[in-house]
Amino acid sequence: MLSDQIRADFPILTRQVHGKPLVYLDNAATTQKPQAVIDAIVHFYSHYNSNVHRGVHQLSQEATDAFEAVRTQLQGHLNAAHVHEVIFTKGTTDSLNLVAHGFRSLLQPGDEIIVSQLEHHSNLVPWHMLAERTGALLRYIPMNGQGELDQSVYESLLNARTKVVAFNHISNALGTINPVKEMAAKAHAVGAAVVVDGAQALPHAAVDVQDLDVDFYSGSAHKMYGPTGVGLLYGKTEWLEKLPPYQGGGEMIQDVEMTSSTYAGLPHKFEAGTPNIEAVIAWGAALTWMQQVGVANIQAHEDELLAYGTALLEAIPGVKIYGKAQQKAAVLSFNVTGVHPYDVGTLLDQMGIAVRTGQHCTQPIMDCFGVPGTIRASLAAYTSKEDLDHLARALERAIALLA
Ligand code: ALA
Repeated sequence: MLSDQIRADFPILTRQVHGKPLVYLDNAATTQKPQAVIDAIVHFYSHYNSNVHRGVHQLSQEATDAFEAVRTQLQGHLNAAHVHEVIFTKGTTDSLNLVAHGFRSLLQPGDEIIVSQLEHHSNLVPWHMLAERTGALLRYIPMNGQGELDQSVYESLLNARTKVVAFNHISNALGTINPVKEMAAKAHAVGAAVVVDGAQALPHAAVDVQDLDVDFYSGSAHKMYGPTGVGLLYGKTEWLEKLPPYQGGGEMIQDVEMTSSTYAGLPHKFEAGTPNIEAVIAWGAALTWMQQVGVANIQAHEDELLAYGTALLEAIPGVKIYGKAQQKAAVLSFNVTGVHPYDVGTLLDQMGIAVRTGQHCTQPIMDCFGVPGTIRASLAAYTSKEDLDHLARALERAIALLA
């Protein structure tokens, strides 16, 4: 299996937790890092630590070249038409806030924003804030019992007042894969901008922003084997030019006088201040690692494991899986009848198994299912069948203890 070939790249996977071998199943929260990413950070600080875009000196030029090379790498990874369409941010949440903030100057009272019931809070709250600020109205696409968006309701919500449609590519809580290309085409038919939270898709699938024809697409390095604190916003040039800058400061300006300033062109208009240089550079190492392994190989591996893990969990009496979309990525969200998810998660931790429990920053999904939260096992390229066997056995022991 793929996991057999790549587990050795991840030094953390050999550690023990509570005296048991670590079984890491919290990849939707953050993935572990291959040695190449760790080495890239150490190499940067050991050899060419310097600020970017600012100095004429050698170190600054080396840092700038390495930093900008990652922008080009991301352009290729996403198939963006232009390298200036890749903006570095702090992460997906920052990217979505940047876009929502920018729309403050573009929306009028009575305009409509469509979101979905499947969203992470980071793709809901910025739109709540935008609606409050502008007088725009928020509409939402409900999900069905399988965790799929109701496309007929979506179509009925679209109209000439719809200015923005924001939804995720893959749900962090349920793994649902949304039909982004079809949803984007429908939004464009009424002239709305399409904003996609791609945080959970980029680690698991090839993403081609031109083929999807979305206006904005966002992601986080740390969910795709890279460091925390850095992410991207892809935007079509025409939209990035329409949006005003998000923050003011160094780097994003052209001219500054005492009472006014003019702004730099793309992408720097949206990159005020010193960026997270080492994280961007190490993200490049993560992308190289992913490309060497092959995104299609990662996807096939995770699909196989998802089917394997689903069958294992469904065979355990009292376990209920939430989210059974026909198009689904590597997330197993479940509960044990009569037991709080936190209690199960705590026992699993004692057995060396890392899962996330709770609402997963998706309270509307939990409210829809009428549960306080779920236990979530989320998979990655290095997840093995043995990891899922451990989970199933540990879950049986936890149920025996808690029942
Ligand atoms: N959004 C991350 C998760 O789903 C933190 O766990």
